[in-house]
Amino acid sequence: MEKISVGLIGFGTVGSGLAKTLNTQNEQLQQKVGVPIKLSRVADINITELPPEYKDVVLTSDAADIFNDPEIDIVVELIGGIEPAKSFMLEAIKQGKHVITANKALLSIHGKEIFEAAVANNVEVGFEASVGGGIPVIKALKEGLVANRIEVIRGILNGTANYILSMMTEHGTPFEEVLKDAQGKGFAEADPTYDIEGIDTAHKLAILMCIAYGQNVHLDDISVEGISNIMPIDIDFAKEFGYRIKLLAISRNHGDHVEARVHPTMVPESAMLANINGSFNAIQFTGDTVGDILLYGQGAGMMPTGSAVAADVVDISRNIISASVNRVPPLSYLPKHFNPPSITPMSDLSCPYYFRVTVLDQPGVLSAISGILGNHGISIKSVIQKGHQGIEPVHVVLRTHRASEAAVQKAVREIDALESCTEPTVKIRVLIEDD
Ligand code: HSE
Repeated sequence: MEKISVGLIGFGTVGSGLAKTLNTQNEQLQQKVGVPIKLSRVADINITELPPEYKDVVLTSDAADIFNDPEIDIVVELIGGIEPAKSFMLEAIKQGKHVITANKALLSIHGKEIFEAAVANNVEVGFEASVGGGIPVIKALKEGLVANRIEVIRGILNGTANYILSMMTEHGTPFEEVLKDAQGKGFAEADPTYDIEGIDTAHKLAILMCIAYGQNVHLDDISVEGISNIMPIDIDFAKEFGYRIKLLAISRNHGDHVEARVHPTMVPESAMLANINGSFNAIQFTGDTVGDILLYGQGAGMMPTGSAVAADVVDISRNIISASVNRVPPLSYLPKHFNPPSITPMSDLSCPYYFRVTVLDQPGVLSAISGILGNHGISIKSVIQKGHQGIEPVHVVLRTHRASEAAVQKAVREIDALESCTEPTVKIRVLIEDD
């Protein structure tokens, strides 16, 4: 084999990061792989020419020119979204190309079909950049932690949400302003509701869970709540109580079932995850043999994500050269040992809670709220009322001792139905680190 030839579909932020990486690291990559890795074709419908440093690279607007090119060994899909990305990947696989993607949405929904097609066609699927941007989390989980039963996954997997919460916490910047800033910096999704409503985090958790547990976890298996109803008052209360609010992906392995949830969480300020700020990502695994591991780094951006895609290119190139394609199964477990997911119902969980109830300041309201909580066996730890007496609604903040999620869901429904309650109650789960 004289060279490895790469075709790239999508010359956007990450695509140009990959091209730049392959260009600038060319020599050291050759020293590590044994042959040159050459970007030979780029497909993109939004550009008419490539920057001058890619004068040997052929630009096309038709992705078929890439997967039909017999010279190309590896097809990299970096257009995002479900279609046509899915069809491009399946077509490339059918043509016997190895494929690489950063497309977490696609893998968390259609991963099963894509991985099965790849195994059937004896090609590899690289997806390091789909979770944690430049952090080598997929490789760590598939290889470095392979000898562990993964007990817990906890992660800050969305840079935009973390940036928003950090800026609100550190500088009191309003939500909308920080979101605009994140969009300007290029790490928010095309549809930023994916970032804010926890969907992007759920995409990534689904992928990690597949590898960790050998289960076909789908996006729909994950319970998702976002951060759009978090107000500065919640951030201030969290600080006062010694917590930071973080959008966490959480999964705990209970043996015959596994938790799968994404929600804003009050994290004790002494915990490492409470101190991951800005657009950074961090993923904490607890393995039964290794104990706790924390991986930290840039979860988005042109060069960090380009670095992860380039690592996949190198991995696959090495496997092609040594004739050991799929030496490491795409999701670590051998396909025959993959099982359907077995997910813990949310109603089975329990933890302490923070509630912010918005009510009219009238006699008997507090006793009605505490009565509802008491009726559902929820024990109150503290109550604070903020706001001035008058006609404007006030915020009543309650912290509970450990309570069952099933009871909390019923109690919140009853509280929200009170005549004096003017807005849906905000509930934030409180993390107990050893839980
Ligand atoms: N929108 C994502 C984020 C990009 O903010 O983390 C990386 O997946």
